[in-house]
Amino acid sequence: MKLSSAFSVLSAATLVQGHGYLTIPSSRTRLGSEAGLDSCPECSILEPVSAWPDLDVAPVGRSGPCGYNARVSIDYNQPRAGLWGNTPVARYSPGQTIDVQWCVDNNGDHGGMFAYRICQDQALVKKFLTPGYLPTNEEKQAAEDCFERGTLPCTDVSGQNCGFSPDCSPGQPCWRNDWFTCNAFNGGDRRGCQGVDNAPRGSCYTSIAGGFPVTKKIKLPNINVGHTLLSFKWNSFQTGQIYLSCADIAIGEGSGTVDPPASTTFSTVVTPGASCAAASSVPVVFNEKATTAYGQNIKVVGSIAALGSWNPANAVPLSATGYTASNPLWSTTVALAPGTSFTYKFIRVDSNGAVTWESDPNRSYTVPAACQGQSVAVESTWR
Ligand SMILES: *[C@@H]1O[C@H](CO)[C@@H](O)[C@H](O)[C@H]1NC(C)=O
Repeated sequence: MKLSSAFSVLSAATLVQGHGYLTIPSSRTRLGSEAGLDSCPECSILEPVSAWPDLDVAPVGRSGPCGYNARVSIDYNQPRAGLWGNTPVARYSPGQTIDVQWCVDNNGDHGGMFAYRICQDQALVKKFLTPGYLPTNEEKQAAEDCFERGTLPCTDVSGQNCGFSPDCSPGQPCWRNDWFTCNAFNGGDRRGCQGVDNAPRGSCYTSIAGGFPVTKKIKLPNINVGHTLLSFKWNSFQTGQIYLSCADIAIGEGSGTVDPPASTTFSTVVTPGASCAAASSVPVVFNEKATTAYGQNIKVVGSIAALGSWNPANAVPLSATGYTASNPLWSTTVALAPGTSFTYKFIRVDSNGAVTWESDPNRSYTVPAACQGQSVAVESTWR
C-alpha cells in the first residue's frame, strides 16, 4: 500500500506541472523567467503527444523548436525586443565541444531522453530570428524536422558515457545512444533525470518544487554562423509530454544573415570587407558521412592539384577520428584560394587498394571569400 500511495502522490504532482527547460546556454525561456514574464519556465510543455518509445514522431504544433508556454501564453519561437532572440547569448567556435545544461523540477521528473539540436538551414532558422515575425505552424514543423536532422549526438564527444535508457528495451525505437538518457524512472535515490548529475535540489531555478541541473557535453557542428539556435528537446518516459526550448548562439564569426545553398553542402561565411580582412587561403573542411568496414578508408579526389587531379593515387585521405556507429563521419581540411572552382568525388579504398567511386554526378564547389581565421565546411553523405 505504501508503494501505491507514493505513486498516486507522484501522478497528482505531475498534473500540476513541473518539468524542465534549457538553462546553459541561457534559453529564451530562461531569459523570459529572469525578466519576470514567465512565472513557470519549466512549464513549456507540448502535450498530449506520443513521446515514447519513438522519439522522433510527435508533431510539434505551435510549440515549435523553441517552445510555447501555454501557462503564460508566451511563444518563444518569436524574438521579443530587448529580451530574447535578438542577439546571441554565447559565442562558440566551429566544432567546439561545449557544456550544456537543463534544469528539471523535483515534481515533474518524468525520466526519458533528451537531445540538443542545430538546424543548418539558415533560411528556416532566420524565421525564428526575425523581429516581429511569428513563424507559422508549418514553418515550425519544417524547422523541427531540420533540428531533428541536426541532432548533436552524445557519441560525438569522446570520453562521454552514452548509455541506453533503462526504461527502453532493445528493438524499441528509443534504443539509441545518440540521444542522452536519464536514469531509470523508478531508480530510487538516483531516479530519472535528476539522478544524472545527482546535484542538490535547488541547484538551478524552477518555480515549483526546486530544480536539479542535468549537465552534458555536445560537439557543435563545424559551421560558421553569427546567429543561430540551439534547440533542446526532452521526451518524457512517464507522460505523453515533450519539452522544448532554445538558445540564441553564435558559432564562429560568421554572419547570421547568409543563407546556405539548398543542397547537401553547407557553408556560411561573413563577406570580407570593412569588418574583417580577407583570407588569401581558406580552410575547407570536407565532412563526409560514409559507413565503412574495418580496413577501408575514405579519400577525396578532384579536378585540382590539391585534390590529386582525379588520380586516386594522389587523393587526400580523410580522418575517421570523429567516426561513430551513429555518425560515420570522415573529415579532412584542405586550404584553398578563395574563388577556386573544382569538381570532385569521394572514394573508398579497401585495404588491398581496390577503389570504389561515389556514384555520378561529380560534386562541385567554389571556395567562397572568407575572413582570416574562418573555415568553411562542406557537408555530404556517401552516395
Ligand atoms: C567527372 O569528372 C571526370 C573528370 O573530369 C570526367 O571524366 C567524368 O566524365 C565526370 N563525370 C560526369 C558524370 O560528368
